[in-house]
Amino acid sequence: MENLWQQIDALRSEIGSITTTRPEEIEAFRIKYLGSKGAVKQLMNAMKEVPVDQKKEAGQLLNDFKSFVAAHYEQLLASVPSEQESTTIDVSLPGQPFPLGSRHPVTLMKNRIISIFQRLGFAVAEGPEIEDDWHNFGALNLPPHHPARDMQDTFYIQQNPDWVLRTHTSSVQIREMEKGKLPIRMLMPGRVFRNETVSARSHCFFHQIEGLYIDEQVSFADLKQTLYFFVKEMYGADVKVRFRPSYFPFTEPSAEMDVSCFICSGDGCPVCKKSGWVEILGCGMVHPNVLSNCGIDPEKYSGFAFGMGVERPAMLKYGVSDLRLFSENDVRFLQQFAAAT
Ligand code: PHE
Repeated sequence: MENLWQQIDALRSEIGSITTTRPEEIEAFRIKYLGSKGAVKQLMNAMKEVPVDQKKEAGQLLNDFKSFVAAHYEQLLASVPSEQESTTIDVSLPGQPFPLGSRHPVTLMKNRIISIFQRLGFAVAEGPEIEDDWHNFGALNLPPHHPARDMQDTFYIQQNPDWVLRTHTSSVQIREMEKGKLPIRMLMPGRVFRNETVSARSHCFFHQIEGLYIDEQVSFADLKQTLYFFVKEMYGADVKVRFRPSYFPFTEPSAEMDVSCFICSGDGCPVCKKSGWVEILGCGMVHPNVLSNCGIDPEKYSGFAFGMGVERPAMLKYGVSDLRLFSENDVRFLQQFAAAT
């Protein structure tokens, strides 16, 4: 007991003389005296040896001591100057490097495509990713049970059978036409969803850019000229183009456009599957039913539409071999595009 007295006395004067305003020293103080192996804890353990009749007094003594140490600790903490007071600005120090983000390759490709059409006067329109049946299908000349609905495997929203995740951004074309402001010269970029097995070459969501041009006396020749301009700007003046007849319920006539393979220049490689041609978009003259569905007089107005994917041209341009990389958010992949355009 005598011994405990002495120890506590010695510690009191030791602690009483400690003054510091440095946070790391204050933390060392806490560990040394109040930590799980600190002085207070050790004295508590020593209580076991104190004879029973003196336990009460010793307990009192120790509790007082513990409060004393805790109070001193609080005092030290309070003495730390606030950051503002302690900071002096040394303007000669080098700046803090700022981590620089980079644009996603899909965004880079999207911006590239948009900027080409913007030069022809196309504006950009966006719409919702969850669509009603009318905007995704019905108005596009795909009534319920139309067999062409199977062309795109659709995700339906369970709570409301009238809602789908849009399978193409043609739904935005309908929204623009419904506004009734003519002429229309618009691009519709956005994310679309299809119930497909995820693999290196296909995904259940991807990005599209569709285009719509409606005015009086728009012809298929206008469509071809617009797309020729796009291809030249995008893939270079030497690239050859071909149109193949195709079918989309919302355009008549419809076509798909191929460009000569810009990897092997038409000699045959894995990208063009040895055919020398790469398919890049679908297009056609807007079906009169679609115009009427949106309150536009098909006798007076006509127009063309086209739609293309964004991921595929991005894969070809940046040499990406697996589509899934675009949606995995792996910064090691994404950082590689910091300097890309
Ligand atoms: N909506 C079509 C698709 O997603 C693309 C397209 C748009 C075709 C406009 C023709 C005209 O496949």
